[in-house]
Amino acid sequence: MIKAKKAHDEIAEYYSRRVLKEWKRLQSDPTNSLEFSTTMYFIDKFLPKRGLVLDGGSGPGKYTVELTKRGNTVIALDPVEKSLRFLRKAVEMHGAAGRLKGVVNGRLEDLSRFKDNTFDGVISLGGPMSHIMDERLRKRAAAEILRVAKPRARIFVSVMSRMSMIDGFVTDFQKDLDSPYSKAWVKTGDYFGGYGFTAFHGFLPGELSDLFDAKTFKKITMVGIEGFGSRSEKKLARLQKNKSRWKGWLKMHLETAEEPSIIGVSEHIMLIGEKKAH
Ligand SMILES: C[S@@+](CC[C@H](N)C(=O)[O-])C[C@H]1O[C@@H](n2cnc3c(N)ncnc32)[C@H](O)[C@@H]1O
Repeated sequence: MIKAKKAHDEIAEYYSRRVLKEWKRLQSDPTNSLEFSTTMYFIDKFLPKRGLVLDGGSGPGKYTVELTKRGNTVIALDPVEKSLRFLRKAVEMHGAAGRLKGVVNGRLEDLSRFKDNTFDGVISLGGPMSHIMDERLRKRAAAEILRVAKPRARIFVSVMSRMSMIDGFVTDFQKDLDSPYSKAWVKTGDYFGGYGFTAFHGFLPGELSDLFDAKTFKKITMVGIEGFGSRSEKKLARLQKNKSRWKGWLKMHLETAEEPSIIGVSEHIMLIGEKKAH
């Protein structure tokens, strides 16, 4: 737990140093924009346009902005104060400021400031749950999300995947194969920082759905957010230049994003479900 606590401080420090970069991240290259467009495609498919949504791990607010624009009211939560300050301005400039109902400095593991059955939807996107470096705390976060969600509320949680890193050891960070973390990676999925990115836990698909108690949570679907686009920025950029082929690829990507064989190898995995009504 001490190791996790130290990692959590470092993670917050990491994000407080790159607020603007995080804001721009989802448009920064074709893979990241694919993350954004695929996530929004499934939000548009499964999340009603009305009702109060918790954006847990909002960062500087890319999704908070989008949700306010589509009609939801939103409370944003993140442990990084600088990101929250940015988020307020971002919603004023790009979103519908009247629909931002709160900005809270906090963590998913402790949503005690919210009553049971408060939200019509909960989103936690781009990996906040991956930045919780202790399995018991991840379980607590999932239980907290379910507690604050109203019956039938839709829940969207996306995390970094464990298997896409195996691809990464070939394509992007071969030198990490000499590191101690890579030797335990397949079994643990834990990376405590020191080789570029900040600490995170890489999930297997089943591990993500198992976090949510089946007595209270009904799974709707699971999505490989970037699919085969995960580590192919340059190739995607080339494809994007040809409008009709790009359109064809996007269609194929969305048609295959829920395939079990694609979900696990995708860079981000999204679980979509609903709190049971009982
Ligand atoms: C990769 S960013 C994603 C931000 C945003 N949701 C997006 O997709 O652009 C991960 C975010 O998770 C936040 N975070 C880290 N640990 C968290 C925790 N325990 N609870 C809530 N948010 C957390 C970080 O501060 C950071 O803003």
